[in-house]
Amino acid sequence: MCGIVGYTGMEEASPFLLNGLRKLEYRGYDSAGVAVYNDTGLHVVKSKGRLSVLEGILEGGTKLPGRVGIGHTRWATHGAPSDVNSHPQVSDGGKFAVVHNGIIENYLALKNRLISKGVTFTSDTDTEVVAQLLEYYYDGDVLSAIQKVIQRVEGSYALGILCSEFPEKIFAVRKDSPLIVGVGKGENFIASDIPAILAKTREIYRLKDREIAVLSRETIEFYNGEGEPVEKEIEHIEWDISAAEKGGYEHFMMKEICEQPEALRKTISPRIRDGHIVLDDIELTAEYLREINKVFIVACGTAYHVGVVAKYAFERLLKVPMEVDVASEFRYRSPIIDEKSLVIIISQSGETADTLAALREAKKQGARVLSIVNVVGSTIANESDDVLYTWAGPEIAVASTKAYSTQLAVIYLIVLYMAEKLGTVSGKEFAEYVADLERLPEFVASCLNDKETIQYFASQYFNAKDMYFIGRNVDYAASLEASLKLKEISYIHSEAYTAGELKHGPISLIEDGTLVIAISTYEKLFDKMVSNIKEVKARGAVVLGITTQRKRKAMLDAVDHVFCVPKISDFMLPSLSIIPLQLFAYYVASMKGCDIDKPRNLAKSVTVE
Ligand code: M6R
Repeated sequence: MCGIVGYTGMEEASPFLLNGLRKLEYRGYDSAGVAVYNDTGLHVVKSKGRLSVLEGILEGGTKLPGRVGIGHTRWATHGAPSDVNSHPQVSDGGKFAVVHNGIIENYLALKNRLISKGVTFTSDTDTEVVAQLLEYYYDGDVLSAIQKVIQRVEGSYALGILCSEFPEKIFAVRKDSPLIVGVGKGENFIASDIPAILAKTREIYRLKDREIAVLSRETIEFYNGEGEPVEKEIEHIEWDISAAEKGGYEHFMMKEICEQPEALRKTISPRIRDGHIVLDDIELTAEYLREINKVFIVACGTAYHVGVVAKYAFERLLKVPMEVDVASEFRYRSPIIDEKSLVIIISQSGETADTLAALREAKKQGARVLSIVNVVGSTIANESDDVLYTWAGPEIAVASTKAYSTQLAVIYLIVLYMAEKLGTVSGKEFAEYVADLERLPEFVASCLNDKETIQYFASQYFNAKDMYFIGRNVDYAASLEASLKLKEISYIHSEAYTAGELKHGPISLIEDGTLVIAISTYEKLFDKMVSNIKEVKARGAVVLGITTQRKRKAMLDAVDHVFCVPKISDFMLPSLSIIPLQLFAYYVASMKGCDIDKPRNLAKSVTVE
């Protein structure tokens, strides 16, 4: 969701900015722009549409010379996608150019005040208020103008700022929206995410809330919101650059689907030692665990679907009551939390605004917060009491795949860790579960071996207008994720229902040729599922059944097509049943010619409420 990149150095800024913005495209955007300073002043070029439009206007960057610049990809919130609403936004007198990720919540009040003082606005954006306020407060000292602005604006922001009176400098500040500073040799950078600058440097600083950075080609200074200098620690980025590249795959999504066995190995293996679960340096004592009166899982989108799987596992193996909630609801519904509650927050990016707000609400009410996060050093990771990382590596495609798989794996690790401490499962069962978890990467790999069957199936149904996913118990949890995957990248309308609920309404949607995908890997309810499949078949549905090898024959008798996954402990089944359905969503979207890695209207990291 919006991307920021900035450069100050001895090379041409525009090609670097365009290249950096390319690396941030996965975040989702609808317009793009750059501001570059050169001998003739501060120049802004921006346009609605894909980055290729801007690249065309700038002829790859050659049309806009200059060695200092900032760039932005915008995902519209305030004001429709248009040239004028694109960033950078420039102040009335032309002194400041600003790129912004986030939302200025009190922008209207600030805008009206500035208008009453004679300032002219040209866009509908909240961001323009920042540019105008900077110029309004500017008296020759940019740092002090920035301090005044951040005292007045409410909401979230990562800001890259150029001032025409300091042609070598970039100013940056953030609150609740990530921003990093990259350190080069004779050149320095800002970016909202690491891939934008990884080709140039692996040495970065992460800005904390309200910290201000002032960069020139040779220097980087940091200040707090009061304008006092701040010492910061440099961080070395370990990832291989290929982790952020497509590596021969047509799309990041397929690359990330195929990376799942490896991502799972990295997430699981270091945490199982001599048959026991070791949760990094987190110590949850049996006494503490016994005191917990309720566990909450709070997350959004795919991460929320991990929570739905978790509920089955927690309640069955631990006998602890659990509530699973989408973060945007949780924070406003007055959940009953106290210091005996454990709140588990799940987020790939660690920056999702709703999830972050839920975390803060939970902490405010005294709960201990354990987060499951992929991005190291992200805000959610920093603000949690305990963090368990999913070692999935960078997930670039908007549609989450390897994050889902590794988040599930961390949930299994937590459940088994707690089960052992609380003694809620027998030693024999525990050993079987741990063995299954250790084999999970191999099982997932085996599900990925048969892509052709799924590709063929997708070729038969990619023109469908609606699809329904049904399941019971953990299979219902997997249905939710399968349906989201399909709709977000193929734009086909799809719904997930508990199979038992069909007869209470949704079955009226089934007609001749409607495609129903029935997930039935949970063998205890297999026969019930077959009855539900018969109900939809009787009304003309075409059914793809996903089941275990053991139930292949029985499933073949009930449905039109079958895909089998290996047998594993019940609560881990969604880790396998989701694989063919991630592939299915991918192939359907590909056959429809959709923009798989950057689906319309969506952003990778949703940093606005
Ligand atoms: O970064 P997060 O895990 O907090 O993101 C949560 C959702 O926005 C995310 O899972 C979204 O639903 C994905 N597009 C799903 O593929």
